[in-house]
This record gives sequence, structure tokens and C-alpha cells, in this order.
Amino acid sequence: MVIGDGSASFQIVRSLVDRLPVMLTPRWVDTPSQPIAIDDVVTSLIALGTMDDPPAEAQLGGADVLSYREMLARYAKVAGRRGPVIVPVPVLTPGLSSHWVALFSPVDTGVVRPLVDGPQDAATFDAIVIGASIRHGKHNPAVYAFIGENRALLDSKPNAFFSVSLVARKPHKNTPETNPYMQKFLTLTTWRPQLLAVFGGVLDYQRYGPFDRHIIRFIMRLTGGPIDLHTNVEFTPWDEVRRFAGRVAALPGGKPPG
Ligand SMILES: Cc1cc2nc3c(=O)[nH]c(=O)nc-3n(C[C@H](O)[C@H](O)[C@H](O)COP(=O)(O)O)c2cc1C
Repeated sequence: MVIGDGSASFQIVRSLVDRLPVMLTPRWVDTPSQPIAIDDVVTSLIALGTMDDPPAEAQLGGADVLSYREMLARYAKVAGRRGPVIVPVPVLTPGLSSHWVALFSPVDTGVVRPLVDGPQDAATFDAIVIGASIRHGKHNPAVYAFIGENRALLDSKPNAFFSVSLVARKPHKNTPETNPYMQKFLTLTTWRPQLLAVFGGVLDYQRYGPFDRHIIRFIMRLTGGPIDLHTNVEFTPWDEVRRFAGRVAALPGGKPPG
């Protein structure tokens, strides 16, 4: 789901919260998805547009894995509304439910159905690359849950894992062997991806709340990083990211991009 104007799924969430006091829902309210802000979509499209050898298909998702139920609740909170009371009805099929959602939102049933069905099944993917950023010293626990639940699937395809953090901006902490977060990752899962990578991420003080800003600045001070609160810098070495993508494509069973 793209969070922003013009996104059909966001429009659905908005109209359900705005118009409905009670909502009958089948299983799809608990379907996980990775909502992404429209600004991040635009940034990604620009990055793809400037690549020499862009992939034929790129899947975009935000860092947080949320169900529709959670998104409805969060939107209701932000919009200052109560949000619909959700009554689970297990027999309501996705087909019926999408007609029902279409009734209450300005979006066509044809558009609602794939949204209600949830994300594409990973079993159809050519290769699986999992990337996770570090927040307060940890990768998102949803990453470990996904790996645990999909281990057989991951091992059946070309696969890779990369970690993004500010620590990885440092030359002596920017390889899988020298990066403490990657080493920790390897102790927290028995999955051994075919390829590993670590990349520096973004430091943008203005994007953080006061608490995170304070903590991150403290860490930057300790580790010799930028402490000016107007800093907005991307430490990501994009050439290396491209090389990594090339190595993923060259994995046995992988498909070259394009
Ligand atoms: C709340 C927060 C906490 C962070 N904690 C760490 C950290 O403990 N160590 C680190 O190296 N980087 C840390 N970072 C930096 C992120 O890993 C980096 O900004 C990354 O680009 C974030 O990507 P994302 O916004 O896609 O999650 C933190 C960033 C945020 C926003």
C-alpha cells in the first residue's frame, strides 16, 4: 500500500475509517503488507530511472509489516476518529468482501480484489532478497519471523540478505564479517543466505522524533559521525548495491535483470 493521495488501498482505509462504525471482515484484515510512503516510492522510482541496468520488476515496501487491521487503527488515531469496530466473519470470502468494501469506498471492486487478496505469493518469485535496517541496535523482529516461517521456500530459491545501518558507514564495519549487526543476525537465525551484504543507511535528524534524535546524535558523537541537527546524509554506496544486485542475478537459478 502506498500511503499518499491517489493510492487506491490507502483510499479504502481512509473511507472505511471515515464512513463505517462497524465492519464485517474475513481473514484479509490480518493479511500482512508493507505500506510505503509516497515520498519513498518517488525516491525509489528516481533511483531506478537513473540505473544503467534497471531490473524488469522492483517490489517496494516500507520497513514495517502491518495488517489492514493495524493500518485501520493507526489511520483512525492519526485522523482523530474512533475507527470501525472490526467483527471477524470467517465465512466472508475475499470475493464477497471486496464487493462489500467497494460499496463503502470510491474504489472499484476490480481494484479492491487484488488488494484484499494481499501481497503476491513469494513462492512465485525467481529469487528472494531480504533486506533489513537497524533500529535501536536490532533488525525488525518480523524479519526473523518471516525467515522462520518461510525457511524451506527461501532455501529452494537463489537467496540473499543485506543489512542497512549507520554503523556500516564505517570502513572497518562495512563487510558481513566485520559488521556487528550482521554477525548478530547470524547468531539469531540458522538460515545461511547464499549472499550477504551490509550497506550504510541514511542519517536525517529532522525525520526523527525528539527521543530518537537525541539517542542517534549521542551515538554519532561517540562514533565520530555528524552531529549537526540539519544533517541529512545518505551513506549508501550505490555502486556496491548495484554490484550486489549483479551477484544476486548471477546466482545459480537466478535470472539476469531485464
Ligand atoms: C529510530 C532509529 C534508530 C536507529 N538505530 C540505529 C542503530 O542502533 N545503529 C545503527 O547503526 N543505525 C541506526 N539507525 C540508522 C538506520 O539504520 C538508517 O537510518 C537506515 O537507513 C534506516 O532505514 P529505514 O528508514 O529504511 O529503516 C537508526 C535509525 C532510526 C530511524
